[in-house]
Amino acid sequence: MQSFDYMTPTRLIFGRESIVKLPEVMRPLGRRVLMTYGSGSIKRIGLYDRVKDLLKDFEIFELSDIQPNPKYDPSVLDGVRICKESKIDVILAVGGGSVLDCSKAIAAGAKYEGDPWDLISYKVKAQAALPIVDILTLAATGSEYDYFGVISRTETNDKIGYGDPLLYPVCSILDPVYTFSVSKKQTAAGCADAMNHTIEQYFVADSTLLNDGFCESMLKSLMVNTRKCLENPEDYTARAEMMLCCTYGCNGILSLGNSESGWPCHGIEHALSAYYDITHGEGLAIITPRWMRHILSEKTIDRFVKYGINVFGIDSTLPKEEIADKAIEATYAFFESIGIPMHLREVGIDDSRIDEMAHHIAVNEGLDKAYAPLTEQDIKEILIASL
Ligand code: NZQ
Ligand code: ZN
Repeated sequence: MQSFDYMTPTRLIFGRESIVKLPEVMRPLGRRVLMTYGSGSIKRIGLYDRVKDLLKDFEIFELSDIQPNPKYDPSVLDGVRICKESKIDVILAVGGGSVLDCSKAIAAGAKYEGDPWDLISYKVKAQAALPIVDILTLAATGSEYDYFGVISRTETNDKIGYGDPLLYPVCSILDPVYTFSVSKKQTAAGCADAMNHTIEQYFVADSTLLNDGFCESMLKSLMVNTRKCLENPEDYTARAEMMLCCTYGCNGILSLGNSESGWPCHGIEHALSAYYDITHGEGLAIITPRWMRHILSEKTIDRFVKYGINVFGIDSTLPKEEIADKAIEATYAFFESIGIPMHLREVGIDDSRIDEMAHHIAVNEGLDKAYAPLTEQDIKEILIASL
């Protein structure tokens, strides 16, 4: 077991009507609030009005139209400008992972005098950040419980996972009811994202029985509850369990004591959504089974056998190769069964930029150090198999 030094300072307030605690959470953080949100879903579900009503004693400034795969220009730059000009005390992010991620970059940029890209690109380490509170409306990324924000810069095809412990949300308000309106497409993509977060932490050289069990439970719960959410979008229990699974996905709690993974599927997918602006979870679902097939070897087969038996209930008396093969097929079949397009061509990606993307990933993502190391040629083969 590996040594670790771990802390997650974020307060989670979970359940129906947890929003009533919002004023109490916000008050110690200041009166001048930047409320960030996306393209309108929070208005359609009445959440925007509810927040305004609960915070009527606060001075609220707004940054709207934050897009999926949030953009450095204009969203991060506009947010930083508002924070500086209006002397914002605290950011309230209301939305999905993109709104939360963008808000984290703004929080750091607001306390930095230079170009915020210096921070996101790790040229300069942030010394301070504004506090962030969030109200989550989409179960997927785990951004509500981690210190990462993934930011896209269109002109350079960069999509960078920017992380700093200064960026943990102070508090995340998690009411599953706000996810009732999430479309089938985004529900399935959110499930694929959280499943992949788990898989990235499960396929490692050194892990514990404890972490393996935690990951296996996460994967089973996500599959069962996502199906229920798709059948009945207002199934509170299913939405709630899905939300909590997603919250656990990305802050390292599933892999305390494990050896490094390298997060290879994320390294590959971030390039896909940087070049083609596709939905992150869909890109991951497409890549994951192809990556699995590519790394299956004498060295990795035992992980696939355990995964196949414990997650999909595959007959443990079968030969190892057959179990591993069935496990990869079952992963693909599950994603397909929840309506995810399982080929890159179906999400608008052809072979014209595969070489360029494989090169970009090999240079920027460090996947040669992953659990199963990937060269530029390996990445290219995985992308071609995903077409
Ligand atoms: O813009 P609005 O109108 O809010 O609509 C959004 C958006 O179109 C909609 N939506 C959100 N909540 C809704 C809703 N529609 C109806 N009802 C609701 N309650 O859903 C669409 C997608 O939203 P987005 O925030 O982009 O989705 P998600 O939460 O999946 O976030 C994806 C982003 O997070 C990054 C991804 O790369 C991607 O950029 N990630 C962040 C991570 C982190 N911070 O740790 C880790 C992940 O691996 C991931 O990379
Ligand atoms: Zn992800």
